[in-house]
Amino acid sequence: MTATPPCPAAPPAASIALVTGATAGFGQAISRALLQAGWRVIGTGRRADRLEALRAQWPEAFLPLAFDVAGRAAAQGALASLPAAWQDVDLLVNNAGLALGLERADQASLDDWDRMIDTNIRGLATLTRLLLPQMVRRNRGYVINIGSIAGDWPYPGGNVYGATKAFVKQFSQNLRADLAGTAIRVSNVEPGLCGGTEFSNVRFKGDDERATSVYAGVQAISPEDIARIVLWLVQQPPHVNVNRIEVMPVAQSFAPLSVARG
Ligand SMILES: NC(=O)c1ccc[n+]([C@@H]2O[C@H](COP(=O)([O-])OP(=O)(O)OC[C@H]3O[C@@H](n4cnc5c(N)ncnc54)[C@H](OP(=O)(O)O)[C@@H]3O)[C@@H](O)[C@H]2O)c1
Repeated sequence: MTATPPCPAAPPAASIALVTGATAGFGQAISRALLQAGWRVIGTGRRADRLEALRAQWPEAFLPLAFDVAGRAAAQGALASLPAAWQDVDLLVNNAGLALGLERADQASLDDWDRMIDTNIRGLATLTRLLLPQMVRRNRGYVINIGSIAGDWPYPGGNVYGATKAFVKQFSQNLRADLAGTAIRVSNVEPGLCGGTEFSNVRFKGDDERATSVYAGVQAISPEDIARIVLWLVQQPPHVNVNRIEVMPVAQSFAPLSVARG
């Protein structure tokens, strides 16, 4: 009988994470989980006051970096402003993103579509491109993208939002192809219905009653559930890459394909 090989040692805790969208929801929970696990975290978002609140709690370990992820110049300027001791980012969590509206494609707002594309696609791709070179140079790093089940499963009104998340899924896989032969890992986390974030309030533009109704009578997944999964991912041995992870609450499942009858 052959002995079971010893489990490979856990990787040394990568020291610096950059989490986009750390001012609310998943990004805030992921930042807290990483900080509690001993990481240093650069947290981004547009609401600087919320980032300052995190810095007040973790003055040494948390660095706020307020900028709009949708603008290339803003992202470049923000990253260039990082102090030298914070520039070697080991983990990029591309989380900032949003859905806007639930109208049919022939009625949806083009401004909403632009904003989702600029944030969920352009912002995520830009940050990745800006942070990858130092990861490749050091042959060390991990990119965790927050996609969505909307990138896998269509639903009425999901038109451009779902398509942006399909981009995130394919971009994640194409990054893996580009990074073959390096130690850099890439995962796409695809959450389903999740409460306790501002996601639906943003989607329905401040209509809190409509936002609340999305979660009525359902035990949705929580931001802490997603943060625990992100922490688990970074704790895997360095030779293990989880390509995609799709997560739903038990209460969410599948419906039959629709058939329009004449
Ligand atoms: N909640 C869900 O059911 C669910 C399910 C699947 C996937 N997701 C995905 O998970 C991610 C986080 O969603 P969430 O539910 O945590 O939403 P949330 O509570 O609304 O948080 C979104 C975060 O993204 C940031 N953000 C949005 N636009 C930005 C911009 N232009 N520049 C910089 N930061 C920006 C926000 O920060 P500021 O407003 O301060 O800029 C905020 O911190 C998104 O990518 C979303 O698509 C959510």
